[in-house]
Amino acid sequence: MEQNQFSAKSNGDNKDASVTSGSNLSYWLDSVGPIQFEPLRKDLTADVLVIGAGISGITTAYSLAKEGRHVVVVDDGFVGSGETGRTTAHVVNALDDFYHEIEKYHGEEGARYAAESHTAAIDFVERVVNEENIDCDFVRLNGYLFLHQTDKPKTIEDEYAATRKYGIPTELLNDVPGLAGESGPCMKYPNQAQFHPLKYLKCLTDAIIRMGSEVYTQSKASDIKEGSAKVNGHEVIAKHIVVATNTPVNDLVTMHTKQFPYRTYVVAFTIPKANREPSLWWDTGDHESEWITMPYNYVRLQEYNDEDYLLICGGADHKTGQADKESTPEEDRYPILEDWARKRFPDVKEVVYRWSGQVMEPIDTMGYIGRNPGDKNVYIVTGDSGNGMTHGTIAGILLPDLIAGRSNPWEKLYDPARITFRATPDYLIENSNTFKQYGDLIAAGDVSKLEEIPAGEGSVISSGLKKYAVYKDEAGGIHAYSAFCTHLGCVVHWNGEEKSFDCPCHGSRFSREGKVMNGPALSNLPEVEVGKVEK
Ligand SMILES: Cc1cc2nc3c(=O)[nH]c(=O)nc-3n(C[C@H](O)[C@H](O)[C@H](O)COP(=O)(O)OP(=O)(O)OC[C@H]3O[C@@H](n4cnc5c(N)ncnc54)[C@H](O)[C@@H]3O)c2cc1C
Ligand code: FES
Repeated sequence: MEQNQFSAKSNGDNKDASVTSGSNLSYWLDSVGPIQFEPLRKDLTADVLVIGAGISGITTAYSLAKEGRHVVVVDDGFVGSGETGRTTAHVVNALDDFYHEIEKYHGEEGARYAAESHTAAIDFVERVVNEENIDCDFVRLNGYLFLHQTDKPKTIEDEYAATRKYGIPTELLNDVPGLAGESGPCMKYPNQAQFHPLKYLKCLTDAIIRMGSEVYTQSKASDIKEGSAKVNGHEVIAKHIVVATNTPVNDLVTMHTKQFPYRTYVVAFTIPKANREPSLWWDTGDHESEWITMPYNYVRLQEYNDEDYLLICGGADHKTGQADKESTPEEDRYPILEDWARKRFPDVKEVVYRWSGQVMEPIDTMGYIGRNPGDKNVYIVTGDSGNGMTHGTIAGILLPDLIAGRSNPWEKLYDPARITFRATPDYLIENSNTFKQYGDLIAAGDVSKLEEIPAGEGSVISSGLKKYAVYKDEAGGIHAYSAFCTHLGCVVHWNGEEKSFDCPCHGSRFSREGKVMNGPALSNLPEVEVGKVEK
């Protein structure tokens, strides 16, 4: 495999963090490179403005362009440089929140539509790959769900019954094919899929442009309202606006009390191809975890070179900005994953990539895809959970229907304005966790003196009621900012692995240069004179 100009194999040393939302490069970004277009430099008019060029925005724009609409897509990074560039791209209707849970929150009809829509999403991807002749390693394959050591067989029994009820042809097995040291029960999901997400997005983007629509990168949207938005300071007028920014940047509070940011980690090893059948594997989750969304391990194989696959293993999740609660800071999560994978895949060789990313966990298991609450022609896609490949693709089916005024049976299930009373206990726990983060406003900082910060690291320093986010560069230069998140004022935390300041409240993230990388915050951390920090 050739390394591109932004190559950062084995990571932590990507000098251009603007390529993606962190210091580490994923295999996907490393193998394709930034998918870049001109920044927007003029006022424009379009039928639909799509903000965000991840799988949600690009799939929606593709479908709309196919219907003959003139679409303008803008992204403040590059195509796929958000979480789509950091995914592991299992493309499944085997939802990680489980159909027996979805049924509890959304009833039988909701669970049926969940199965139908995610199945349709896999079929959509396959059809587009064939129609556009996209070389993106798309393949249908089996998925295997097995018990986490802290869980009981009932989870598998309940999920087997629920999947069969909702038309997913699962099978029960007594062992876990392809995994050492794990025994059954296990569920086999035939006909799942995987692909290279950035190769897929690149071709979809080319198709969007070929159909007469427009794509701009390094183009930041703000002032989003009915009928228009500002992009790089220019006005874009559009009757319909789709905000596909992973977490909605047009919403101050409402949606951010209904979903919660978690960080998840990936280690990729080389593994000999001999006797390996590409499959997907994941477990039922750590039932002893303190998080509402239980971390689970997820694994796939990816074409890499003639001799080896990449074994891509994910997990070790925690709420964003709160890794220390488990006394395991961000940078200590990879060895846990590596150890887990080496026990189950004893023939893995060296670790060639490591990266992490952020997942928005909805309070009631399903994504939010539809009209932004209170708006008529502004739409959002968010709350993707660990199934953003299919959730993002569902946006590409559902939103064009809403925009065209066609009825769609899935509209109610994904309605961002829905209230799910069954989710109230989790809603209260998650929001009280968010509220507790404001306690950091009066807590001591991580260190009290600049000299305690090692070169190449960051920290939060307190000075009375003031808090400073400080980064010391490799040459010892100090870069200081206010540590109060520009969304709603929580104190940011240093993430030593991705070299970013992460907000524990709603998941905004800022680079070591203080620049906003993830919403909902829209503006950078204000810079502070270094002399003020220790006063
Ligand atoms: C490690 C990891 C593993 C995962 N594994 C899987 C998996 O196996 N299967 C699965 O289905 N899902 C998985 N997911 C989830 C999935 O990757 C995401 O849900 C999905 O990629 C989100 O796509 P998106 O288009 O909604 O957001 P993104 O890809 O984040 O796109 C949003 C875009 O909006 C842009 N943007 C933000 N603000 C602005 C602004 N103001 N103006 C302009 N542009 C803006 C960003 O630059 C970004 O490019 C995983 C996620 C992670 C992190
Ligand atoms: S993300 Fe909401 S306060 Fe920081």
